[in-house]
Amino acid sequence: MIQAAGTPGRDCPRCPRLAAFRKTWRANEPAWFNAPVPSFGPLDARLLIVGLAPGLQGANRTGRPFTGDFAGQLLYEMLARFGFSRGTFDARADDGLALIDCRITNAVRCVPPENKPTTTEIATCRDFLKPTIAEMKNLKALVALGHVAHNSVVTAFGAKKSATPFKHGGKNMLGEFALFSSYHCSRYNTNTGVLTPKMFRDVFEKVRGFLGR
Ligand code: URA
Repeated sequence: MIQAAGTPGRDCPRCPRLAAFRKTWRANEPAWFNAPVPSFGPLDARLLIVGLAPGLQGANRTGRPFTGDFAGQLLYEMLARFGFSRGTFDARADDGLALIDCRITNAVRCVPPENKPTTTEIATCRDFLKPTIAEMKNLKALVALGHVAHNSVVTAFGAKKSATPFKHGGKNMLGEFALFSSYHCSRYNTNTGVLTPKMFRDVFEKVRGFLGR
């Protein structure tokens, strides 16, 4: 099967640690997706949201970014609120939810142990992030969820991290593209108040304001 350049194959061997972890979970939970999680949403979207990596029992289980764990609840709620989705999110890949003018991907496509990809894994998987960005011909804006996604996007564009620092609620131009950055919508960040629903809403309000309808 011909694979889009931005999509790793199911048995992508490029990160040995992640491939070994995947093998373990295929044995533990054969009914789970247990493979690099493909991007979700239309290729002709103007907005690309970049997360960190699939959660073990979330995207790694269901096969759709941010689907099946806590982080997705807040994200999909915001997408619905700001008109970036149609249908009802039900935390399953077959819930019928469709994204409108928005696509979601992850900086690292395979689930990492403890939710922590290494610097090398992030760099290796950037070989998929770059074509994912390049194949979106109508792209105007990106939302990076967390520092790792922010830095990986900045590097993917060949920009300097020092000139494009992460700031929650910040907006940086990468050439003609606007990069909006937010703290990650993880359970930890929301439970500790690092990211409140209002803070997250404000980010998407800015994005919607930038894109217009
Ligand atoms: N699920 C994802 O797909 N990405 C994240 O960053 C977190 C949860």
